[in-house]
Amino acid sequence: MVTLIPIASGKGGVGKTVLSANLGVCLAALGRTVVLADLDLGGANLHTCLGVKNRNPGIGALAWRQENSLANLLVETRVDRLWFIPGDNLLPGTANLEYFVKRRILKELARLPADFVILDLGAGSSYNVVDFFLASSSGLLVIQPEATSVLNAYSFLKTSVFRLLFRSFPRAGEERRRIADFASRRIEGSGASFRELARELARDFPVSAPPALDQLSRFYPRVVLNEGRGPKDAAMGLHLRDIVTRNLGIPLEYVGFLLRDEAVPRSVAERTPLAISRPESPFARGAAALAARISAQPGGAPPRLFEDDEDLSGAWEEAFRDRDLPPEEDEVPEAADRP
Ligand SMILES: Nc1ncnc2c1ncn2[C@@H]1O[C@H](COP(=O)(O)OP(=O)(O)OP(=O)(O)O)[C@@H](O)[C@H]1O
Ligand SMILES: [Mg+2]
Repeated sequence: MVTLIPIASGKGGVGKTVLSANLGVCLAALGRTVVLADLDLGGANLHTCLGVKNRNPGIGALAWRQENSLANLLVETRVDRLWFIPGDNLLPGTANLEYFVKRRILKELARLPADFVILDLGAGSSYNVVDFFLASSSGLLVIQPEATSVLNAYSFLKTSVFRLLFRSFPRAGEERRRIADFASRRIEGSGASFRELARELARDFPVSAPPALDQLSRFYPRVVLNEGRGPKDAAMGLHLRDIVTRNLGIPLEYVGFLLRDEAVPRSVAERTPLAISRPESPFARGAAALAARISAQPGGAPPRLFEDDEDLSGAWEEAFRDRDLPPEEDEVPEAADRP
């Protein structure tokens, strides 16, 4: 069975693409077959980190029906067992995928002949990114040791749990309306917590709520801290984990600590992942440790969500309009106080 590894971040430029490339190389070195899919639609640049020429058709070919199968888009890399699916900056409109296109891409990704399919996502919490993140129960979220990055990661997870809960109930149901209402109230700052919403749903919808809340309880995203400099920085990942568990009621596994390493920008300029050119460098060793951990514990089955073709014009859009759900005052991670 294919394990999808979506890689997301609330804030841009935190190292998702560099990590995707190096994690792919390291998993392949462990004997796994890996596909790296560039799903940063609109800002695709994974080919640069990998040193693959940007001349092959990418995901857009599927979106625009020039191609039926993602398997036909696989591009060889210089690493054995490591394959690449290009993104698309050239085709306008792919950044805003229609729901049925997103669903097709997800179905095709899960059918690829690989052990792992790594999804290099765009930054931010737009629902396209969040839906790709929810293609796994245990996607990777990359943070940097900075208050803004931790706050953005928190907002990303908050939007994700709302989206997960929303999509765990059938389309056009009263439950979804309740969730959307709750989210709009929160945007205006009512102060009610997400856990309170879960309690209300359990009380008012005794038949549909238990399976939906069960989905939520199986959601355990994983966080990777990148550009760390020392133990103090490592603590920021722990802060995020604590606040997420406390306020959103979901566990967050802290799976990786990657050091700031000047060899990383050089490797990007050289178009060769560090895990190939300097496997002994601090960053590459961190990526190898993460790969070993993921290889041993690939993560559980993806959440079972309702498919909702009309969500783009439905209650979700009404309530969220692609906004982040910012933390309430009582939810601000302690890490934000750090100088
Ligand atoms: N551990 C590190 N040490 C030093 N520099 C790093 C490290 N990780 C990433 N960088 C640098 O940070 C920059 C951004 O990295 P990258 O493009 O992977 O981020 P991203 O999260 O994919 O960005 P975007 O959100 O734009 O897709 C790159 O120039 C890279 O060289
Ligand atoms: Mg990127």
